[in-house]
Amino acid sequence: MNRTTGNETKDPYRLKLHLTPPAGWLNDPNGLCQYHGTYHAFYQYVPENALGKGRKCWGHAVSSDLIHWKDEGIFLEPDRPFDRDGVYSGCAWTDENGIHLFYTGNVKEEGDYDYIHEGRQAAQVLVETKDGSRAGEKRLLLTNDDYPKDCTLHVRDPKIWKENGRYHMMLGARKNSGQGAVLLYESADMVTWEYVGEMTTKNPFGYMWECPDCFEMEDAAFLSICPQGLPRGEFQNQNVYQSGYVHLKEGIAKPQIVEAEAFTEWDKGFDFYAPQTFTDEQGRRILIGWMGLPDIEGEYSNPTVGDGWQHALTLPREITYEAGRLCQRPVEELKRLRRNEREVKTGETSVLSEGIYEVEIDKIEINQKDINQKGINGMEPASCRICFNQDLVLDYKDGVFSMKFLNRTGAGRTVRRAEIGSLEDIRIIMDTSAIEVYVNQGSTVFTSRYYPVSRESRVMIDCEKSRIRLWDLESV
Ligand code: FRU
Repeated sequence: MNRTTGNETKDPYRLKLHLTPPAGWLNDPNGLCQYHGTYHAFYQYVPENALGKGRKCWGHAVSSDLIHWKDEGIFLEPDRPFDRDGVYSGCAWTDENGIHLFYTGNVKEEGDYDYIHEGRQAAQVLVETKDGSRAGEKRLLLTNDDYPKDCTLHVRDPKIWKENGRYHMMLGARKNSGQGAVLLYESADMVTWEYVGEMTTKNPFGYMWECPDCFEMEDAAFLSICPQGLPRGEFQNQNVYQSGYVHLKEGIAKPQIVEAEAFTEWDKGFDFYAPQTFTDEQGRRILIGWMGLPDIEGEYSNPTVGDGWQHALTLPREITYEAGRLCQRPVEELKRLRRNEREVKTGETSVLSEGIYEVEIDKIEINQKDINQKGINGMEPASCRICFNQDLVLDYKDGVFSMKFLNRTGAGRTVRRAEIGSLEDIRIIMDTSAIEVYVNQGSTVFTSRYYPVSRESRVMIDCEKSRIRLWDLESV
């Protein structure tokens, strides 16, 4: 969202295509939906503080095409005893009566508590709105007494859907046993909810599952969760917390044991968490994530804090199920912003002056063992390499795709890797201080913030036997 003040030297990293907070802090996308043609994106928002310390509200933006967003200010704020310390994350359910928003009201009692088993209240709350312009009464649905006794007080982030005439709710939870889980509830009227059981793994798979989501695609059922507490690996779970999906053998509404071995991360980059999906009026399943992560202090940072704001939402991505894998692609509407298509040769350096552009490399015909023996700038040879200035490098070698920051432009970010097998295509969207990289039809994605020193980008692509195209993207 373009909120430039005209003074670009003051806020050089303001994003042009991504939804950002006007000022202050943003985290999870909430209440995503399309209603009577209009797309709504609510988000976790602390207006007065770029570090997220303060009153957690829901911000609100609307769009007619998922690309041009209009800021609508604060939609929900903590103004009731049960949401005193934050209007936390939640979702939207739409029907002929309007938009029904569900969220978690957070309360932290004053005192010397461990805040896991005591001193906390988690309320599930419903607010209705006819069209997104004004919120109705907040209705309390569930409180601490309504959760199973083997759960801690970390229960939040409702997701609602309807199936066979009944409403279903899932909540992310942390059990006393130190195991993450999803709690399932059912209702006939969206107001009175009954507990029906849980989804969890046989052996612990993280201590907490935040922001659950679920959907069906071509007869396959998926659960999306954000587990906290997984061990880091060389190719897996490289961030502090994870975000990914698993197949559900028994559909999305039944309590069941979840097979964690098949957990696939949504995104392998540095900045991605808490995604939410919804179906739009064309029937597309669209995912938007938070381009950020909680609790990364000391690891890496965002210099935009100095300009009074932090974080963004990812581009809206259409999800498809192809050959047994979920693929993500920026929604088709983004292509309308393409300008000045040109084809470049391998090894050529292109100069892009505005910092928002798209690169597509397809028809790639290298196999895992082909190494481009040239190497560049003292770097190890690779089969395919893309260099942004002398700052950021994407490369592919021996079946591994990596994103590497070579200097301070990563603000502490270093390297992320994914095993992808052979390389078929790469699509890159660069937006001032954000990069999204879609590999192999979006079956692997890397999302990251990037803080180049100049708006002018020198992009060098070394990928023999491929077609390389570039576009400038129009700022929105
Ligand atoms: C995930 C999360 C949610 C919570 C919200 C609070 O980032 O921790 O579980 O509802 O953020 O802002």
